[in-house]
Amino acid sequence: MTTPSRRTTRDQVAARLLGGSIRRSHNSLVEIDWDAPQDPDLFYMPPETISLYGTPLWEKMSHRERVELSRQEVANTFSRAVWFENTLNQGLLRTMLYQDPTSPHVHYALTELGDETRHMVMFGKMVSAIGAEPYRLSRLQVLAVQAMPFLYRGLMLYVAALCGEEVIDDVQRKYLAHPGLQPIVAQTMRIHIAEEARHIRFAREGVRRRMQTAPWWSRTFCATANGAAAFILDKMFNDKRAYERCGLPVREAVRQAKANEYNRAGRRAAFADFREFLEDNNLLNVVSRAAWRRYGFLA
Ligand SMILES: [Fe+2]
Ligand SMILES: [Fe+2]
Repeated sequence: MTTPSRRTTRDQVAARLLGGSIRRSHNSLVEIDWDAPQDPDLFYMPPETISLYGTPLWEKMSHRERVELSRQEVANTFSRAVWFENTLNQGLLRTMLYQDPTSPHVHYALTELGDETRHMVMFGKMVSAIGAEPYRLSRLQVLAVQAMPFLYRGLMLYVAALCGEEVIDDVQRKYLAHPGLQPIVAQTMRIHIAEEARHIRFAREGVRRRMQTAPWWSRTFCATANGAAAFILDKMFNDKRAYERCGLPVREAVRQAKANEYNRAGRRAAFADFREFLEDNNLLNVVSRAAWRRYGFLA
């Protein structure tokens, strides 16, 4: 049961975010010139964020081969972002069935859903515009992904949203800080960062509020289950199919990427803010810490 004061805070935050959505929302279909020519020498992601950057294999690659790997890895990350946003939207819609359709909180959740559907179009357009094949889920993976929205209830909905949004947000800011990136990717990142800032505020407020009333088993579940995000993010950043498509020796590339200290340092930096938030809210435990550590997000 939501008490009046908790409801007031929740709706005040939602009303503020609705105001922000009115002032600043984007439609990539009209704002990005998808047909603009692409310079074949420009990277699709900052080289230091590519999984093989600085490895012996990297040293043997030509500039154009490195650019191709950047195209494949960016296509992997944002193909996966599409299904992740799909699961969040399902979680928001299911939760809404229990909520008051006249409340600012529900109106903001619907606005966020609209943002995410536009992001899904934008990422699909981007992968196609940069000339990459999308990275699709296998049938088995679809089954696993379909289970996710069923777990997004109460506190877990907000924790899951942050798991998908916080680390990626940090990585995207690195993209934007890189001066010579492919313009289509840079424009996509600019739109996504602007709109995700609101989503992160919404989910952070949701976590803080829900933590005050969530039962112990829900808090324990969330503190444990967020570790699964480390596994998913690992796949978002590093899929061996990208090496196959670039004609690289796959097993060797996987081995070198795993041992790559640039990768691990990048992951630790990208996780730092979110880690602090999880710690402040008692949402890291021995299991989730081990998972984040295993995939290089924690030292
Ligand atoms: Fe998004
Ligand atoms: Fe989002």
